[in-house]
Amino acid sequence: VEVVSAPAEMQRLAEAARRQGSRIALVATMGFLHEGHLALMREARRRASLLVVSIFVNPTQFGPSEDLTRYPRDLAGDVAKIREVPADLVFAPDSADIFVPGAQTWVEVSELTRGLCGAHRPGHFRGVTTIVAKLFNLVRPHLAIFGEKDFQQLRAIQQMVRDLNFDVEIVSFPIVRESDGLAMSSRNAYLSADQRRDALALSRALFAARDRAAAGLCDPQALRAIAAEVIASYPRVELEYLEAVDAETLSAPPQAGRPLLLAVAARVGNTRLIDNLVLGRRD
Ligand code: PAF
Repeated sequence: VEVVSAPAEMQRLAEAARRQGSRIALVATMGFLHEGHLALMREARRRASLLVVSIFVNPTQFGPSEDLTRYPRDLAGDVAKIREVPADLVFAPDSADIFVPGAQTWVEVSELTRGLCGAHRPGHFRGVTTIVAKLFNLVRPHLAIFGEKDFQQLRAIQQMVRDLNFDVEIVSFPIVRESDGLAMSSRNAYLSADQRRDALALSRALFAARDRAAAGLCDPQALRAIAAEVIASYPRVELEYLEAVDAETLSAPPQAGRPLLLAVAARVGNTRLIDNLVLGRRD
């Protein structure tokens, strides 16, 4: 697998591949890859003839008190995993080549990023949509796959593509979980053994609500309350938010018959974890 770091070289290779008729898929990551990322890559591999994986810890999506400097990094380990998929190209640029001095342009999706994580991480989604727009321009993908664990991110990217007429198909991929239910995340690497046990509060809360929904309960606030009770039974888990919202607009609880997103963010020690579940989806 070829590792490219210069943005201009990435763009040149992408244009050449397009001219030769390749169908390009992008899996955008911040590295420290886990099985969830690899599942996205395998799906992308199935759908395209040229698979590009980007690895870039994007400074603009971290707040000043967040974990940018300690975010886990392992480029050599990541490339070894990507080789197994296999992908064709790894795009791993330097920050200085991506954010050149004098840049003034941001891409911001307004409504969808107001609540949930957006309310607690000012500027985060603006950083995400800006880097994803830049990656689309550099990698020139026909399709890009994003995991549903970052559900609000996925919705913001879908909206950006629609609003700005990006010619990129956005494919969403279900959350990949450990066998005990914990949603896979690079940040799980921060957890001690005790914290790893406490982290199960998030998925257990969502699964409790899912079970009650399967048994016929459909009031969003009642389902939220069931999840909240489970989280409250873990005294060391500090809830940031737990919300039941419309899975499309991410605001106000849905009308009957529309999919419901139950989304949670919580701190376990210093580690911020998120998880979610969509109920009532037709697929
Ligand atoms: O989901 C992530 O890993 C990041 O937010 C992304 C999409 C690679 C943008 O930096």
